[in-house]
Amino acid sequence: MRDLRVTFTRGGRRVHAVNGLSYDLSEGEILAIIGESGSGKTVGARTLMGLLPPSAQVSGSAMFDGTELVGMPEPTIRHWRGSEIAMVFQDPTRSLNPTMKIGTQITEAIRQHSDLDRAAARDRAVELLKLVHLPAAERRFHEYPHQLSGGMRQRVVIAIALAGEPRLLIADEATSALDVTTQAQIMSLLLELQERLGMAIILISHDLGLAASYAQNVVVMYAGRAVEYAPARQLFRDVRMPYTRALLGAIPQLERPSHGQLPVISGQPPDPAALPEGCPFRPRCDISTDKCAEAPPFLEHMPGHWWACWHGEAVHPVDPAAAPGASASPAASAGVAGEDGRS
Ligand SMILES: Nc1ncnc2c1ncn2[C@@H]1O[C@H](COP(=O)(O)OP(=O)(O)O)[C@@H](O)[C@H]1O
Ligand SMILES: [Mg+2]
Repeated sequence: MRDLRVTFTRGGRRVHAVNGLSYDLSEGEILAIIGESGSGKTVGARTLMGLLPPSAQVSGSAMFDGTELVGMPEPTIRHWRGSEIAMVFQDPTRSLNPTMKIGTQITEAIRQHSDLDRAAARDRAVELLKLVHLPAAERRFHEYPHQLSGGMRQRVVIAIALAGEPRLLIADEATSALDVTTQAQIMSLLLELQERLGMAIILISHDLGLAASYAQNVVVMYAGRAVEYAPARQLFRDVRMPYTRALLGAIPQLERPSHGQLPVISGQPPDPAALPEGCPFRPRCDISTDKCAEAPPFLEHMPGHWWACWHGEAVHPVDPAAAPGASASPAASAGVAGEDGRS
């Protein structure tokens, strides 16, 4: 992804939903995209799926294995959707058809992506339900979404997402609506699937703790922009963007991800229809200078570590004792889960 920009026109005003988003994603990698509500995470992800409303204007580049997704015509992107890239959303209820048995929904998804006949697709559907550890998969096959718990419904949604054997799964706040225990179980499931199927995962979250525990690399978004991007461990050891530091400041320890809201930072993120000149974080930043009236470029200042701040040198170092990465060993090297394990 390079310098992705997405604008909408709303009430005659231009809304800069995504305003400069860049990152790389390797095969089988887990990448976390974090940011406050409204920072452009979902719009950035929907671009990859070709799921933006027609009013959206998109520029920049999103290359997937050598193919440019930005500007791809709808019939082509329809093939990609589901078979190469699939997306799981926050609310599993809305992703499922309430009037259809879950078995039928998965079977149809499989048939959309393969030429299996109905019987073979049904077998595959049961297999997928087992793969996502839906309890009593054969019996649940004949049930309707309302008969399942929220966690089970999300497992079904994930099974449907896997129907086309995608190489990239985007989980957009996929666990945010679930209770903490179920969240951890769904996260473990995603990690297991990533390992077993070799899928890459983009984990979208407003929860920095969650991202830190599971992802190899983290992109921090602010007002539609990527403002810092680094390997998870590096980010906690050597944070460079004042906004990221502010987020980190209020996380007690990495070992116990907060699973809560982002910590409060005084002031409000800017209105995407009226972005300030220069650095969008400037009005809330405690180290800004006149220089910040000019937007800082998002640059790779150190290998693998990007940030958009004129004063990145000044932000470092954080207090090592306070840095959540100090004692934990998160996913940085091998995609290892947090302490809750991955049974
Ligand atoms: N279809 C749309 N038309 C106009 N504005 C939109 C549309 N979709 C999203 N936006 C705006 O784009 C911004 C980013 O939204 P979104 O990507 O959903 O944020 P996030 O997922 O980080 O919470 C928000 O200000 C939102 O109101
Ligand atoms: Mg969102």
